Amino acid sequence: MNILRFQTEQLLNEAAAGIFTALVQTNPRAVLGLATGGTPVGIYKELINAYEQGKVSFKEVTTFNLDEYANLDANHEQSYAYYMREKLFAHVDIQQSNIHIPNGKAADLHAESKAYDAKLNEVGHIDLQLLGLGHNGHIGFNEPADHLQNGTHVVTLAEETIQANARFFNSTDEVPKEAITMGVGSILKAHTLMLVVKGADKAEIVHRALRGPITTQCPASLLQTHPRLLVLVDEEAGRLLV
Ligand code: F6R
Repeated sequence: MNILRFQTEQLLNEAAAGIFTALVQTNPRAVLGLATGGTPVGIYKELINAYEQGKVSFKEVTTFNLDEYANLDANHEQSYAYYMREKLFAHVDIQQSNIHIPNGKAADLHAESKAYDAKLNEVGHIDLQLLGLGHNGHIGFNEPADHLQNGTHVVTLAEETIQANARFFNSTDEVPKEAITMGVGSILKAHTLMLVVKGADKAEIVHRALRGPITTQCPASLLQTHPRLLVLVDEEAGRLLV
């Protein structure tokens, strides 16, 4: 595990985007695993900057997103499909057909999960997977539990996750209670993992995830088993990581 610390959020965003950019420069057909939420917003801005400056093209890149809310249309402003469009895809030259996000509106979410895994299997593996960290230790929407699942599946969101994500909706009641998420097995299959953690409120959980016991009660702790885990933290989040 390699832990990189940054004095400011902007420096962290530039470094994270720089790693993605370098990968795509050397492998224009790279498969990128992407995340949503507050953490990656600044990283995506830097990727757009790199594209606008002609440093990188996403034309041949394939992307897979970690997760999507169940029962939200792709045009719903809080869907992750909408988020990705607004925050990254609409601003770069990626091809629509190379973008993969679980369809939260599929009539059969279990069949949709299987289909998503089939597409992941088709590409083989993700080259670089971006991950944020939930306050309860979730990655993707793999919530703490007695058992975790390998592949893409439907999940009931933890109360803590619903509360944390309520900030993006008009009220807590509007937050979907279910989601589709890539499983921990699929996440761990990525060639390289980039865990990005920002802010004082994540200091304890990132410490637990990376220095505590490996347990399904803290899904991010499984990342410790990955041979190529890159962790990017700002000073506040990295406070307890010695
Ligand atoms: C989002 C995702 C989640 C978030 C996590 C942290 O696609 O998979 O695991 O990364 O909930 O969210 P933020 O960044 O909003 O603190």
